[in-house]
Amino acid sequence: MAKSIFAPDVLEGKRVLITGGGTGLGRGVASHLVAHGAEVHLWGRRLSVLEEAAEEASGGRSGRVFVDSVDVRQGDSVDAAMSRIWDEHGPLTSVINNAAGNFIAPTASLSTRAFEAVSSTVMNGSFNTTHAAGRRWIAEGLPGSVLSTLTTWVWTGSAFVVPSAMAKAAVHAMTMSLAVEWARYGIRLNALAPGPIPTDYAWEMLNPTDSSAVGATQPDQIPMGRVGTIEELAALTIFLLSDACDYLTGETIAMDGGQRLAGPGTFAALTKVTDQEWIDIRETSKAASAASKAQRTAG
Ligand code: HXC
Repeated sequence: MAKSIFAPDVLEGKRVLITGGGTGLGRGVASHLVAHGAEVHLWGRRLSVLEEAAEEASGGRSGRVFVDSVDVRQGDSVDAAMSRIWDEHGPLTSVINNAAGNFIAPTASLSTRAFEAVSSTVMNGSFNTTHAAGRRWIAEGLPGSVLSTLTTWVWTGSAFVVPSAMAKAAVHAMTMSLAVEWARYGIRLNALAPGPIPTDYAWEMLNPTDSSAVGATQPDQIPMGRVGTIEELAALTIFLLSDACDYLTGETIAMDGGQRLAGPGTFAALTKVTDQEWIDIRETSKAASAASKAQRTAG
């Protein structure tokens, strides 16, 4: 595990639910939360996958990771599973809305069911889980923290992943709206918009061709020249779930090596210009400027 700047017990006393915790980013972050003292609950659709993830996340400690088979699209199942956590373990302190579905496809080719499979997992799933935890926190006078895993498409949209972009934008709106509505109860809502971080399944889905020129994940389009790591995502997650940032709410924080800011409308491609080329560019522009001045004087 990479070096951590946090006290080993910074999340002691935290009970954290990660939806979609059996795979991908949720699974990757879980072990770091456990290592910093949290009790972690993983929800997902496949119990065998969740059990494997729990084994990995617990790092040999027993009684620290629990799993339940829950489809977050089903509001009633979410509520029942939330009751099981409350009754059998105690109130959650934090929810990570991480469950997502996504695939790259031309939008005109999508069936209604395809749109719903992706959008309802992200949008309805995040609402169902947030609502089930939030109304319990409010009823019991407890503070809470909600962290949603979004993407930078919430600001830009994205072609070929339209159901995901739409649904994630809706969760971004939920984050800002409930940050205001629930602030007086001590409930914080924030979101993370990570850039590409390799996890097997998402990588395969988002890079569907062998061509390195296709897909949302090429390091050469990222100003920092590399993809992100689970350790970096975990560090920000630990900070956001900790008591160190009680005044932070309503924010969606991008952590993408600057990728979203390096669009084609900017001069991002100039990061490839060498020092010598910059000297040549400067000489060329000085010469052009002198020629223009001379022309104006003559005129
Ligand atoms: C077109 C597709 C399709 C595809 C499925 N469908 N895959 N259509 N292109 N590639 C259609 C099916 O034909 C069906 O419609 C409908 O979608 C539902 O498919 P099911 O398989 O029955 O649904 P379900 O089992 O609920 O699966 C949902 C899923 C699946 C989204 C399709 O991929 C899934 O469960 N994924 C969960 C994990 C995941 O996707 N993680 C990625 C997150 S990455 P019809 O009409 O035929 O019945 C991410 C962004 C990372 O969020 C960003 C990094 C830069």
